[in-house]
Amino acid sequence: MQPSAAPPGFFRIVALQTIDSTSEEAKRLSRDGAGEGTLVWAARQTSGHGRFGRAWISPPGNLYFSLLLRPRRPPQETMQLTFVAALAVADAISETLPPGAAVTCKWPNDVLVSGKKVSGILLESSTDGAGNVDSLVIGIGVNVVSHPPLEEVQYPATSLRAEGAPEETAGSLLERFCPSFLVWYEEWRQRGFHSVREAWLARAERLHRPIEVRLEGDTAAGVFADLDPTGALVLRQGGGQRLILAGDVFPAEV
Ligand code: BTN
Repeated sequence: MQPSAAPPGFFRIVALQTIDSTSEEAKRLSRDGAGEGTLVWAARQTSGHGRFGRAWISPPGNLYFSLLLRPRRPPQETMQLTFVAALAVADAISETLPPGAAVTCKWPNDVLVSGKKVSGILLESSTDGAGNVDSLVIGIGVNVVSHPPLEEVQYPATSLRAEGAPEETAGSLLERFCPSFLVWYEEWRQRGFHSVREAWLARAERLHRPIEVRLEGDTAAGVFADLDPTGALVLRQGGGQRLILAGDVFPAEV
């Protein structure tokens, strides 16, 4: 199991048939000293997980992988890499979908096609003694050939196959993700968040429209006004603004 073309030298691909979770495996490799660019890819996961400890059901045919980075920057900055990863996924899937397909990014870490979730991204990190992130695992799942039914998910889901890319495979998608990720990662590393933020905003789902953000034990409603310079969601509520650091965004009408 390999991408059909070699990915850029930055990446060291560990290809597996079955694993509990590619992110758990990447964390184990990280603890054993694996370097930046280690990418764990599996055909199937038995305990894939998403944000807030939710299960990520992982049948064969879809793409499951986790990329280890060692950014050595403060946690608030490295969380911006969720937008870097989302842009790389959005670029990679846009190339395979019919022209004009609506590929958008939903704050903070989903990629949608025609308003339905096709990909989820999960960042998990650990810090060194100085408080900088020395191990960041970016776990990415993309529904290539199948997706969970509505009754099993919080947000409607779709797959690339259902959206008009019947030939796409996990390997060919990973092959396109890698160079795209490197472009955005280099941009972030060398010039900061500015152009990543601009590119993400250009793809943002429901920007300037009413949303509901489900937070732990609370719901906030308002208009998705902006992404602030750190990556927080700016929610306009009446005359004021609220910065949201974590939560699940849903469409709303006010
Ligand atoms: C989410 O939408 O909540 C994020 C989902 C992330 C799923 C991917 S699949 C590959 C990697 N391994 C995991 O266990 N999770 C991530």
